[in-house]
Amino acid sequence: MAVRHESAHLHVSGRALYADDIPLPPNTLHAAFGLSTIAHGRIRALDLGPVLEFPGVATVAAAADVPGENNYGSAVHDDPIFAPDLVQYVGAPLFAVAANSYITARKAARWARVDYEALPAILDIRSALAADATVLPTQRITRGNPVEALARAPHRLQGTVHVGGQDHFYLEGQIAIAVPQEDGGMLVHSSTQHPSEVQQIVAHALAKHSNQVTVQCRRMGGGFGGKETQPALIAAAAAVLAHKTGRPVKLRLDRDTDMMMTGKRHDFLADYTVGFADDGRILALTVMLASRCGYSADLSGPVNDRAMMHIDNAYFLEHVDIVSYRCKTHTVSNTAFRGFGGPQGMVVIEQIIDSIARQLRLDPLEVRRRNFYGTQDRNVTHYGQTVEHNLIPTIVERLAQSSAYVERRKQVAEWNAVHRHIKRGLALTPVKFGISFTATLFNQAGALVHVYTDGTVLLNHGGTEMGQGLFTKVAQVVATEFGLPLSAIRVSATDTSKVPNTSATAASAGADLNGKAAQAAAQTIRGRLTQFACETYQVPEAAVSFRDGRVLIGERQYSFAEWVQKAYQSRISLSSTGYYRTPKISYDKTTLRGRPFFYYAYGAAVSEVAVDTLTGETQFLRVDILHDVGQSLNPAIDLGQIEGGFLQGVGWLTSEELWWNAKGELRTHAPSTYKIPTARDWPPYARVQLLEGQPNGEETIYRSKAVGEPPLMLAISVLLAIRDAIASCGPPGTQAELVAPATPEAVLRALAGVRSENGVHAAPESRVEADV
Ligand code: MTE
Ligand code: HPA
Ligand code: MOS
Repeated sequence: MAVRHESAHLHVSGRALYADDIPLPPNTLHAAFGLSTIAHGRIRALDLGPVLEFPGVATVAAAADVPGENNYGSAVHDDPIFAPDLVQYVGAPLFAVAANSYITARKAARWARVDYEALPAILDIRSALAADATVLPTQRITRGNPVEALARAPHRLQGTVHVGGQDHFYLEGQIAIAVPQEDGGMLVHSSTQHPSEVQQIVAHALAKHSNQVTVQCRRMGGGFGGKETQPALIAAAAAVLAHKTGRPVKLRLDRDTDMMMTGKRHDFLADYTVGFADDGRILALTVMLASRCGYSADLSGPVNDRAMMHIDNAYFLEHVDIVSYRCKTHTVSNTAFRGFGGPQGMVVIEQIIDSIARQLRLDPLEVRRRNFYGTQDRNVTHYGQTVEHNLIPTIVERLAQSSAYVERRKQVAEWNAVHRHIKRGLALTPVKFGISFTATLFNQAGALVHVYTDGTVLLNHGGTEMGQGLFTKVAQVVATEFGLPLSAIRVSATDTSKVPNTSATAASAGADLNGKAAQAAAQTIRGRLTQFACETYQVPEAAVSFRDGRVLIGERQYSFAEWVQKAYQSRISLSSTGYYRTPKISYDKTTLRGRPFFYYAYGAAVSEVAVDTLTGETQFLRVDILHDVGQSLNPAIDLGQIEGGFLQGVGWLTSEELWWNAKGELRTHAPSTYKIPTARDWPPYARVQLLEGQPNGEETIYRSKAVGEPPLMLAISVLLAIRDAIASCGPPGTQAELVAPATPEAVLRALAGVRSENGVHAAPESRVEADV
């Protein structure tokens, strides 16, 4: 049902409490980090004397002040909270200072005297590859015989795909408040997608047990993956200072610090060779995939695994070899970001298909169709999962029709034939995205439901709210199970003391997992209330139902509250936990084979752009989207996720450019230099539709599908529409070598390539050689 977000009235009136709004005890201290100013080096001496002497400062904490483990690494313990002696990126935390005000803490932090011994720094992917520098072992997925199939293929293309990183730019920056409790306890308010991990890391840092640390999060002002692992650092530093002083400590990063200090989307490069038939079918593909992981592992393992597993997107790759290098650089450690490596993998294959089409002078959509996964055969992915309930052909055909793709392709060609400087481009790209954490164990969730004697319900579950509407959806599930209006359900803050051992709210699986767990809890209580009715009135279970706020028992009727009262008086328990684990999935992470995903979410987009070939500027003219959310839990929220995810993807691929200088300093660390899309970047004509009549083929919560991440990848259509416009500047068969983000500078470089050599760009970083 399309109901509004449970906090919409609070969001729009400024009354929603974010961590920064939580009223503080009067003796609270405010903290700031001191950061490394060099990319790689040893700390010879760290003199914090002047920081401590700064008026208003209460204390400082550095590596030696961490009572337990000085690390916040999740998978691999290679992320120091405070750099012990080695620094590995500009922005690495060296220490934190707590003072009586936020401004005082920030000013004081600048007074540290640091003596570094600089070491050579590796700053980009190519340098890391040359130096064999990786944070994790190289992975490989091979199927069939790609070498032989390549040799036999009638056509071959070689090229490189570049795609940039992305800052999360959540509106609310990273923040934590640590409040010491009696007898060694610590309460932490954290803006986090992963309260249980924050709890664990704070406990380890303070040498405490998990049962001494409680982490709460009512909501985040956006997370987008940037609050899956990063909040543990902020929370741990605040907790160390709170532990040291015995006073509450609030630690909030300002935007510049946040952007310099915390991990981002991985940028990737891919060197590929593809062999294909006369009709455009891919016969063999080899890809060297390399990503910039930064100085540590963080989530780079699963991010790069997901990139490898999404390099097929919607296409059957019979003979394929993918090698994935997880490059170590002396830059911030990259992390989860909406799509989690999937978008980077998909952008590679979509550009390859586009290049094949241009080479063969075919419409790219035709080449896409010829490579789609089949329904009976050609339907097993390179990692061994069978693609079931494949909706790609359905969605693409409907969208091509409804967006008048064929006619508009002609109109674009006509426009381009008569306009010299403004060129138009059109592209339709599909999305197939695997739903589940690739690490099978994370696919579990818990919930806690209380029914009070006045018939109202308090709901708690392990998922976190970051604006995506999870709390609304899970409340809807509980309301449905009890036959109550949504207003009868209140959702309380995520809290490690209510539901333990939770997974991050990530991988788009929030509603799938927590919706099912909450349903289980509600059904347990409803079952007890039903049983009580059966016994009281000697009726069969089928005679009892919960509807419109009433309990119907045979001919009798009670309000839900009345029946709950009666149950309470008869000593029936009105509270229950619920638990869920995703069925059917199994995956071997050493061989990267199996069924990592419960199901796939699908979608497609057609985008049209106009490119000013004199300035390199792009105007986004129109988008048509058809997206699969199964049987929607909440169409209003799902449409919001699709629109927001899509536009965030457009930002990633067109305007958001991360730029480091030769010293490894990020120079785009504020909105003045880092350009995210705004409402004004939404195209004048946009039609976003949910695919109707296609409930999830798997038994998910009410047959819905996850929606958080998949729409981001619809934005690949915009990148390829720009590429289409650029290619139109050369004769048919012209390859446009466009790097992402397609900023005006990147567009001008691609245009120069097209003009100079008829599609053959001379720069070694972006070569495409025809029929090598
Ligand atoms: N939507 C909003 N408004 N804010 C966010 O931070 N994060 C995205 C997506 N949609 C995000 C969002 C990411 S990265 C994920 S994984 C999912 O929401 C997580 O929530 P879900 O699993 O409940 O969909
Ligand atoms: N997706 C998102 N976040 C994750 C994953 C994943 O597959 N694995 C661990 N964290
Ligand atoms: Mo989303 S990147 O899985 O938090």
